[in-house]
Amino acid sequence: MEIGSRAAAVEIRMIKDVLEASVIEGEDSLDTRIEQVYASDLMSDVLAYGRPNSVLLTGLATRLAVISAHMAEFKGVVFIRGKRPKDGSETFARENNLVLLSTGLDMYDACVRIDSLKREGYPAAEIGSPARMTEELLLNHQFSIQGNDYSNAGMVSTQVKSLLKKIGFDPKLVRRVAISTYEGEMNVVMHARRAKVSLSVTPQLIEVVIDDEGQGIPDVELALQEGFTTATEEMRAMGFGSGMGLPNIKKNSDELNIESRIGKGTSVQMKFFT
Ligand SMILES: Nc1ncnc2c1ncn2[C@@H]1O[C@H](COP(=O)(O)OP(=O)(O)O)[C@@H](O)[C@H]1O
Ligand SMILES: [Mg+2]
Repeated sequence: MEIGSRAAAVEIRMIKDVLEASVIEGEDSLDTRIEQVYASDLMSDVLAYGRPNSVLLTGLATRLAVISAHMAEFKGVVFIRGKRPKDGSETFARENNLVLLSTGLDMYDACVRIDSLKREGYPAAEIGSPARMTEELLLNHQFSIQGNDYSNAGMVSTQVKSLLKKIGFDPKLVRRVAISTYEGEMNVVMHARRAKVSLSVTPQLIEVVIDDEGQGIPDVELALQEGFTTATEEMRAMGFGSGMGLPNIKKNSDELNIESRIGKGTSVQMKFFT
């Protein structure tokens, strides 16, 4: 939900106070400003509809929820009903500058309280100047992803995001690459055996290629349609598997090419113009 106008912003501390939340991680970053609170247990929705500089309000107390928030350029996550993740989320949050809060309230009450913040006035948000590119751009990096390895899921996208950020690309562009890579990475974890990922960067172009060994996609056109999924109940319980991944990659990339051979594997090539 929107908090005030687009130009206005709220500090995370105000969210913490209004929700009577405790801080799990990020005590020093409570003055970070945010523009939106996005409430959802569905990570595919966070990646598809969440906006940068938001806080995620969720009942999903897992590291994947925290990674999803990070990919979407959120600033923090609030877990409802007193939940606290117990799977290394804190370390990930610390390394990536995310605030983690826990409130005893349920989703509805938390939303009502946040809504009440709207009625107060806030100073306009300061808009930072975009990072300068100071070094010659040229990067080639390989990563690998292991199918079914949920404990490391999201690590490749996290590294890709951090590399691009360091180079100094526009945060909006980095976000598009990060979200697309993350959806592709989750697809390998959920639907394939293993994959090699290559990231190549030139001043004009960022290219991510995910080459997997696995079952392949019988009908790529169909798989690209919103809502088409073969995901299991277990995958859905983790906030993925609603058939929004490939459509979201299509939306976020400038060019997408998918080649697949049944029983062999899939190659997902994404291009982003800088
Ligand atoms: N790398 C892959 N290998 C095999 N099948 C895939 C792969 N990526 C996607 N698919 C197939 O395409 C479907 C749609 O993918 P996607 O849009 O990401 O949705 P979801 O992953 O939520 O099911 C998947 O359910 C799966 O059947
Ligand atoms: Mg998917």
